[in-house]
Amino acid sequence: LLNTIQVAKPDKILGLTEKFNQDKNQKKVNLTVGIYKDAWGKVSTLPSVALAQRQMGTLSTLNWNLSYLPIVGCEKYHQNVKNFLFNECMKDLKHFNNGVSFFQTLSGTGAIAITARFLSKFISNKIWLPNYSWANHINIFEKNGFHNSINYYSYYNDTTGKLAVDKWLNDLRINVSKDKSNVPHCIVLHACCHNPTGIDPTKEEWTKIIDTVHELNMIPIIDMAYQGLESGDVVEDAYVLRSCLQDNRKWHNGLYLCQSFAKNMGLYGERVGSLSIITPYESLPSVRLAIDSQIKKIIRSMYSSPPGYGSRIVNTILSDEKLKKQWFKDVNSMVNRLHSIRNKLFEQLHWDDLVEFGQQHGMFYFTRFTPKQVNQLKQNYSIYLTEDGRLSLSGINDSNLDYVCEALMDVSKV
Ligand code: LMR
Repeated sequence: LLNTIQVAKPDKILGLTEKFNQDKNQKKVNLTVGIYKDAWGKVSTLPSVALAQRQMGTLSTLNWNLSYLPIVGCEKYHQNVKNFLFNECMKDLKHFNNGVSFFQTLSGTGAIAITARFLSKFISNKIWLPNYSWANHINIFEKNGFHNSINYYSYYNDTTGKLAVDKWLNDLRINVSKDKSNVPHCIVLHACCHNPTGIDPTKEEWTKIIDTVHELNMIPIIDMAYQGLESGDVVEDAYVLRSCLQDNRKWHNGLYLCQSFAKNMGLYGERVGSLSIITPYESLPSVRLAIDSQIKKIIRSMYSSPPGYGSRIVNTILSDEKLKKQWFKDVNSMVNRLHSIRNKLFEQLHWDDLVEFGQQHGMFYFTRFTPKQVNQLKQNYSIYLTEDGRLSLSGINDSNLDYVCEALMDVSKV
C-alpha cells in the first residue's frame, strides 16, 4: 500500500521557508513565518531570556536537569505560569474561583492539539473557526478528531478590510441554535493580534461576542499565541480571558486556554506553552480528577512528557521580579519596532485603501493581496508572503525596506 500514498501539500507557512531557502536570488526576503527578527534580520535572544540563561548556568550542577519531566510538566512551571495567568493577568478580577486543570504543553500548537483530541473524544466534534485563521488550525483540528466538521464564522470582510462582528454573531445564532442534537459547538477565538488579519474586535465587541458564545452554550478555545504583541503589555493583552471569566461566569463544558511563550519570550524552538481547562468550581474535584487523568493519557500517547529547558527559562523569569520586569520591557521593545516598521510602510506605500492600517497590530500586515499577487511577489522579486496575503513585518529592516515597498507597489497595480 505504500505506493498508493499521495504526496501531501507543503505546509502553508513553514513550507514556504523551505522554498525560500532554495531561492538563489541575493535580494530574497522571507516575510512568511511569525518569528520576530531584529533590525539586523536576526532571531535574537531577548535580554530577559539571556539573563535567565546566565542565571541558570550558574545554578546548574552536573546533570540535575536532564531527567524526564512529569507527563503534565514540571510543578514549578505550573505554579509560576498559573500565578501569571490566573493572578497577575486577572488584574482587578478578584473573585476568580473556578477550577483550573493545567498542563505544560509543546507551545500553543501542542495545547490546541491536546484540546482537539480531548474535546472530540469526550464532548464535541463540532467546531467553528474564523473565516481567516492561522493555517495550521485547520490542520490540527482535522488531524485530531474534527475531520469534515469544521465550520467557519464570518470574521473579516475582504471588500472593506474590516471585521464583520454582526455577521459573525448572526452566523452562530442561526446555525448553532438550529442544531437540536444537544452536542455543544466549540469555537476558536484569537485572544489578540488575530492571525492573519491583525485586526481584533474592540473590547465592547468582545463583550457581545463572549455573551453570545456563552448564551449558545458553546465551548471557547482561546488561542493566546501573541500575548503582549498587541499593546506591548502582556497583562493587558489577556483581556479576552478576563472577559470570559468576568462575574465568575461558568463555562459548563470548560474554557480551553492555549497559551504560548514562543513569540512573547522568543522561545520558538523550545516548545513551551500551556493548556488550562477552566471548569466551574462546583464540579471539582471528581470532574477535574477525570479530566486530568484523560489529558495525561492523551499526552503520554502523543509525546510522553514535555521538554525541560524552555520551561526552566520561563520559571527563572516568572519567579524573579527583576527578570520579569526586563521581560515586560523586551515585549514592549518588540512592539515598538513592529509599530515603526508598520509606520514606515504606511509612509512609503501610497495606497488609498490603507485605512485599516491603523487598526492592524501585532506581527503581521494583512495586504489583502490575491494568491496571484503573492505569487508575483515571489516570482518577480523573491519576496515571500503566505498565500493569504499575510506579511510578517519584522522581516523588514532598513536594508530591504525600499526594495519591499517598491515590489508591493508594483504588484498592487495588477
Ligand atoms: C505563524 O503563524 O507564522 C506562526 O504561528 C508560526 C507557525 O508555526 O505557523
